[in-house]
Amino acid sequence: MSKSKKFVSVVIAFLMLFSVLSMVGCKVEKDTEENKEDSHIKDKNSDIVIGLSLPTQQEERWVRDKEKMEEVAKEEGVTLKTQIANQDDAKQLNQCENLISQGVDILIIAPNEAKNFTSLSEKAHKDGIKVISYDRLLLDTEADLYVSFDNTKVGELQGQYLVEKAPKGNYVILSGDPGDNNAKMFKEGAMKHIQPLIDKGDIKVVSEQACVGWKPAEAQKHMENALTKSGNKIDGILAPNDGTANGCIQALAAQNLAGKIPITGQDAEKTGAQRIVEGTQSMTIYKDTRLLGEAAIKAAISIVKGEDVDAQEKIDNGKMDVPSNLVEPVIVTEDNIKEILVDSGYLKEEDVYK
Ligand code: BGC
Repeated sequence: MSKSKKFVSVVIAFLMLFSVLSMVGCKVEKDTEENKEDSHIKDKNSDIVIGLSLPTQQEERWVRDKEKMEEVAKEEGVTLKTQIANQDDAKQLNQCENLISQGVDILIIAPNEAKNFTSLSEKAHKDGIKVISYDRLLLDTEADLYVSFDNTKVGELQGQYLVEKAPKGNYVILSGDPGDNNAKMFKEGAMKHIQPLIDKGDIKVVSEQACVGWKPAEAQKHMENALTKSGNKIDGILAPNDGTANGCIQALAAQNLAGKIPITGQDAEKTGAQRIVEGTQSMTIYKDTRLLGEAAIKAAISIVKGEDVDAQEKIDNGKMDVPSNLVEPVIVTEDNIKEILVDSGYLKEEDVYK
């Protein structure tokens, strides 16, 4: 690696570390005599029970989030009770209710459907249980902290990349699950760059679709329809994550077009990285789930102990301004894939270069 590339990697690593350290040391609510008496305030880590509710293990990233949180919980000596909702809204609510009745001290929730948690969160708070919104923002409800990535920036990086590679022509614009607030933010970010070119008449949108459940098969279906509709004349594809990019690339491959049309992604999955190396996917977004998982568990412990938890910003979730900490996402292309994904230890060299 060149000296300048090394320097860039070191700077990125420091920036990320800095954002985690500021998350970990943060203060959400001052200790009051009142919450000192709360049965959920604990002094010893070994007494702390954290409930974790994840929406899915469909994407590799959620497997990594879970692994990291389990690892940090073990290191910190706290009990972590994890539930996976398999993208089923009712199941996720049920699982969270069960965690509350099992007496967890705090809940970390990555919602499948952002707007479903109003009464659950109310119930948790009545029982003195605080709620951390993880990666995806809980909407229209009380949340004590939001830890995520800068999701608008994710979309901006995708959109900016795409218009640079394909400043004109026919576009396919896909978004993620409509119930996921992140999906909305990714698209808004991307459209900041794409919309001006649509308005100018340089870009024509052939197809604009949401991929329900973030399903690769949905993306494939949308892509097949767009190819048919345009007579295979597509110049740029906004795919919201690596899974949906994979669906699109399957459709492109069937028409011998894989690698010939710029297409975005997100998550830095192993297979996404492999496609970048083989040239069928143009880019992905690296979001270091190790940092997020660690930050969430450490913040949960601090909150349960009644310790200071600072937040860098506040994000309106429709009900309140939620104290929030956001990690910077990083764009990955064939030019920087080794330094960003392999040298950072996120992926193994053999996972990227098969
Ligand atoms: C996450 C993405 C993920 C998607 C599908 C989003 O909320 O931020 O990283 O690809 O959900 O699970």
